[in-house]
Amino acid sequence: MTILETDDLTKKFGSLVAVDDVSLSVSAGEVRSIIGPNGAGKSTLFDLITGIQQPTSGTITFDGTDVTGMASHEIAQRGMSRSFQITDVFGGLTALENVQVAAQVDDSRRSSMWRDADGLTDVHDTAMGVLEDIGLADRPHQRASDFAYGDRRKLEIGLAVANDPELLLLDEPTAGMGSDDTTATVEMVQRLAEEREFTVMLIEHDLEIVMNVSDRITVLQDGQVIAEGSPTTIQGDSAVQEAYLGGVSA
Ligand SMILES: Nc1ncnc2c1ncn2[C@@H]1O[C@H](COP(=O)(O)OP(=O)(O)OP(=O)(O)O)[C@@H](O)[C@H]1O
Ligand SMILES: [Mg+2]
Repeated sequence: MTILETDDLTKKFGSLVAVDDVSLSVSAGEVRSIIGPNGAGKSTLFDLITGIQQPTSGTITFDGTDVTGMASHEIAQRGMSRSFQITDVFGGLTALENVQVAAQVDDSRRSSMWRDADGLTDVHDTAMGVLEDIGLADRPHQRASDFAYGDRRKLEIGLAVANDPELLLLDEPTAGMGSDDTTATVEMVQRLAEEREFTVMLIEHDLEIVMNVSDRITVLQDGQVIAEGSPTTIQGDSAVQEAYLGGVSA
């Protein structure tokens, strides 16, 4: 089953074509990495898919529905989640409070449940379950801003999964982490995706990790898809090696 499809998706900023005729299809349950050099259009592609920016042309189909032109909160309600930076907004709240807020985000798929008198208990239990899954259940009442950097990034991923997404988009979730934290975090995402049965789209610069965790990889350059396939296929692709890896085999 296809969870996400883009058809001829294009985004222009003036004369710059940041995303250029991108057509891709992501199957439910897969881990799809999007790689490519700086400025290739990876983050802009995520902005289009999540409705943060509107495409110049082309369409986006999510879970069978054409979501092109929808506002980002409408798309989020349909089960698409994107990690966001906790630091500015919720740093003063505890880990538990942060996840509770995220879990309470209006969700049209289950809105009747939250109107129940028991709704708040559900939110608490859901949030504690998320903290357990991300390894922070021992510190639910610690302020988010007091967590070490790597734990804060994990908490951000926790917020993104608290609303039980179908599709989770992560834009460089390990940026600024050391290699141990990077590996642990990506493996955590992979485990969460299996246990909670959601699809992952991942932008990640560490190619070794990308090769390890991805089912399929899409390579962007200058806004265009230049290659797509399994990690083995991508590693052996000469266009990718030339354009992205500078001719050096990964
Ligand atoms: N809001 C904007 N206005 C104008 N140009 C933009 C805007 N956002 C992105 N761009 C340009 O679009 C191109 C693609 O940028 P984007 O951030 O999507 O690349 P990226 O692949 O995510 O790069 P990086 O690996 O550095 O994060 C770049 O040339 C960038 O300068
Ligand atoms: Mg980017």
